[in-house]
Amino acid sequence: MAGEIKLLKPKVKGSISIEETLDKRRSVRDYKKGPLSLEEASQLLWAASGKNLYRRTAPSAGATYPLETYLVAGEIDGLESGLYHYTYSTHSLELRKGEDIRNQLSRAALGQRMVERAPLSIAIAADYGRTTSHYGQRGIRYIHMEAGHVGQNISLQAIALGLGTVMIGAFDDKDVKEVLEIEEEPLYIIPVGRV
Ligand SMILES: Cc1cc2nc3c(=O)[nH]c(=O)nc-3n(C[C@H](O)[C@H](O)[C@H](O)COP(=O)(O)O)c2cc1C
Repeated sequence: MAGEIKLLKPKVKGSISIEETLDKRRSVRDYKKGPLSLEEASQLLWAASGKNLYRRTAPSAGATYPLETYLVAGEIDGLESGLYHYTYSTHSLELRKGEDIRNQLSRAALGQRMVERAPLSIAIAADYGRTTSHYGQRGIRYIHMEAGHVGQNISLQAIALGLGTVMIGAFDDKDVKEVLEIEEEPLYIIPVGRV
């Protein structure tokens, strides 16, 4: 695919246990200055919704996979600042906007400054029709459950990498859609930075 940026192979072994990540989980809203590595970004995106041994790292009702993952890159070593779409099947990024949009996204998130300050944010957005076409209105409930699974995966992966994150649900939907230039409905903005 033109403009495809291959990410680094995800690691499936880490130095801390799942129990320790659960024990250390908390919301982190202040981050140290400085970039994250492409390896860290790759790992976080894979944890969010990447391909695993079986299907994907987060479950999906009826395997309808309504969620899309976007990377808002501010300071990542070896990656141009900008907005990217994550393609799970090839574990790669596609550049959507070649400019730092953290400031705009922070404003769309009701001025929550951690979005501007974090070296990266991951945005999760839903195409409701993929799931409601199978399950009707109940599909809406399933999609929100799925966003929780993805968010928790990112949260625990961040801890395993020694990073911090917070789940952001308070934002103006229309503004976020405009900033990300997406048709899907945004559900989560998840800034990640060094603790
Ligand atoms: C669905 C959801 C939406 C949230 N939205 C925000 C948000 O917009 N801004 C924020 O600072 N924290 C947000 N949080 C984080 C909560 O404030 C936080 O989890 C809570 O205060 C408990 O603290 P802890 O995560 O450190 O245990 C959100 C959490 C969830 C689960």
